Amino acid sequence: MPKVNFIDVKGELVTVDANIGLSLLEVAHKNNIDIEGACGGSLACSTCHVIVDEKDFNKLEIASEDEEDMLDLAFDLQKTSRLCCQIIISDKLDGITVTLPKATRNILLED
Ligand code: FES
Repeated sequence: MPKVNFIDVKGELVTVDANIGLSLLEVAHKNNIDIEGACGGSLACSTCHVIVDEKDFNKLEIASEDEEDMLDLAFDLQKTSRLCCQIIISDKLDGITVTLPKATRNILLED
């Protein structure tokens, strides 16, 4: 089973097993990793923002235009930022590392 690494807001590394076919957001929730995911993966928030390790970024599918649009609203956007509800676990993602941003922005709560 692939493993993924999360670096939490305190800088601590947490390595977990990730079932193929789940989104990275679902993997985070199964393992009590503190990623909100307010819209449940429907690309309507940016609270599932993660920063992907540069060495792993090219293993990911290209982000859709909708994801890019939503990412533009994310707090602390980096060039390897992604929305983790859009990252689907496969064998080739074994060992990827993502860092949780220091804060997220929930546009669902803004008016
Ligand atoms: S959970 Fe809302 S965009 Fe990913």
